[in-house]
Amino acid sequence: TAGTVIIPVVVHVLYNTAAQNISDAQVQSQIDVLNEDFRKLNADANNTPAQFAGLVADANVQFVLAKRDPNGAATTGVIHKLTKVNSWGTNDAMKNSKRGGDNAWDTSKYLNLWACNLGQGLLGYAQFPGGSASTDGVVILYSAFGSRAKFSGGTYTTTYDLGRTATHEVGHWLNLRHIWGDASCGTDQVSDTPTQQTSNYGCPAFPHVTCSNSGDMSMNYMDYTDDKCMYMFSTGQSTRMNALFASGGARASL
Ligand code: ARG
Ligand code: ZN
Ligand code: CA
Repeated sequence: TAGTVIIPVVVHVLYNTAAQNISDAQVQSQIDVLNEDFRKLNADANNTPAQFAGLVADANVQFVLAKRDPNGAATTGVIHKLTKVNSWGTNDAMKNSKRGGDNAWDTSKYLNLWACNLGQGLLGYAQFPGGSASTDGVVILYSAFGSRAKFSGGTYTTTYDLGRTATHEVGHWLNLRHIWGDASCGTDQVSDTPTQQTSNYGCPAFPHVTCSNSGDMSMNYMDYTDDKCMYMFSTGQSTRMNALFASGGARASL
């Protein structure tokens, strides 16, 4: 492969209340989780069942808060912006300054993350590669942004408090599908992740056998399990993500 890809990140923190204005320390805790999870440095990778232990991948992607803004000026990589909007949906309004959000920085150069108050129980959503430039990036509920284990000072959503929502969403941003393929025994277009019937929630005991597999890979970041029960990408998923950075790939400009 081409070695480790380092992605500059800008975080747009949109707040209507003080609690929504998450601190730079909470933001950094999320960057730290991404850097563990995408480099197989997360301690819980050791929990992987023996059947899948040989498939746990170092995806070779690293994330760093931007040190320069699009004009070349020094930045912390974190924007805190007061907004009149108290709750957001999936219509990308948070990515638009005219709608109370904050415009993306050049999406060919930065990974844009928006931390805001998503409504309707949404934890996050992402845009796949190849979509509209102005809406490219990942949105995360402010209370699922960062890790309680690394920074305890914030407000966190129970069971989604270890930063794995962003790991999952950045997986989508890097072209990964849900592990069940969003269909009954569907395909995620990755061969080393077993076909499974549907999403798993909570913390399933292994093996949970479906679709004649030998156990769902419910500990994969692209399932829907609790943060503490998802801790790996597979080799095939890593290959699929890294294809985007090759010459001609959809994220080669980063
Ligand atoms: N439901 C969201 C999605 O499909 C995110 C799920 C994140 N799960 C988690 N354990 N943090 O993109
Ligand atoms: Zn998802
Ligand atoms: Ca598969």
